[in-house]
Amino acid sequence: MTAGGAPTVPDLPPDPTETGALPLDDGQASATWAGSGDAGPADGSLVMLDAPATGARPSLTRAAVVSNDHLGDRYWRMRLLAPDIARHTQPGQFVMLTVTPSGPSNWVLPRPMAVADRDEMQETIDVVYGAHGWGTRQMAAIGARDELTVVGPLGNGFRLEPTTRHLMVVGRGIGLCSLSLLAVAASQRGAAVSAVLSARHREANVLVPFFEAVPDSRVVTALDSDGSSDPQVLGPELRILLEETPAQQIATCGSRRLLRMCSALAEATGATLQVAVEAHMACGMGYCHGCSAWVQGVDQEGPLVCRDGPVFAWLPAGR
Ligand SMILES: Cc1cc2nc3c(=O)[nH]c(=O)nc-3n(C[C@H](O)[C@H](O)[C@H](O)COP(=O)(O)OP(=O)(O)OC[C@H]3O[C@@H](n4cnc5c(N)ncnc54)[C@H](O)[C@@H]3O)c2cc1C
Ligand code: FES
Repeated sequence: MTAGGAPTVPDLPPDPTETGALPLDDGQASATWAGSGDAGPADGSLVMLDAPATGARPSLTRAAVVSNDHLGDRYWRMRLLAPDIARHTQPGQFVMLTVTPSGPSNWVLPRPMAVADRDEMQETIDVVYGAHGWGTRQMAAIGARDELTVVGPLGNGFRLEPTTRHLMVVGRGIGLCSLSLLAVAASQRGAAVSAVLSARHREANVLVPFFEAVPDSRVVTALDSDGSSDPQVLGPELRILLEETPAQQIATCGSRRLLRMCSALAEATGATLQVAVEAHMACGMGYCHGCSAWVQGVDQEGPLVCRDGPVFAWLPAGR
């Protein structure tokens, strides 16, 4: 399951903004990840998953924009014609998007985006994105029939474990985009899916319809606006759910607080836990070494989030 020595992650302070990003970019050497957050004990480490047995090579495509729809709040969904990527993407993998000369011309670095959905028949992929910085605001202005340069699928994604009969995915904001294909894969294999969808408020929880449409899924929404996203509230609620219907596997993305909560739940129930993490990326393919997740020693680079992740397994301390 794991490769190499298990690198430890630095202490992750609570993220009051909960923007959906889970950057492990503290860039400091650290021995343990101390569970000092507000969601209970969570001492442990993130370790690399083995490389997939069959990994499709990424392709570079000039992809036509099929649609680019505003979903609500600050979120948009872009559908791209990308046959190879639609065929080969595994849950938790991502693409790097660059606007070509037909769009804004001064966009230099590509933006990493999870493949939120794919349709092999239509040969399309969907990315769902929050328009906040310069590049993603430019994306929101792109119309159908424009073209983007897309490289993918990239990264080491989620593993659906053979023993998983009930999968719980726990995500927040845009982090839910990394979990959607895993939920679909579990359902297609006949597993039950519990999807815990956290957001600032109802209008920002734009992937609720997607997860509700996954066969044999149960959706739990958790909002800041009514306090239900607070791990002190949500954690006990999920613990009851897991006592009623034990999950063999938990997967999470998008919030440090939720990662802490999930690690406590996994430890208490014996479920395994995988987490998709985020880092600033320039190439997305292991060349620039700009996305090293954490430092293992004084001069030792940690795993690259783009190549070795973005999905890592969480192991409780002592294992
Ligand atoms: C594996 C992975 C999957 C992602 N999936 C999604 C997704 O599905 N939907 C979504 O909305 N966002 C996703 N993100 C985050 C997204 O890449 C950033 O929000 C986006 O690059 C910010 O670009 P910007 O133009 O808005 O910001 P700007 O501030 O203009 O960006 C400046 C530079 O910093 C980089 N950057 C800034 N913030 C981030 C960040 N949080 N993570 C990585 N690079 C960053 C940009 O790529 C760019 O090169 C993902 C990130 C990673 C690493
Ligand atoms: S983004 Fe370049 S090595 Fe990861």
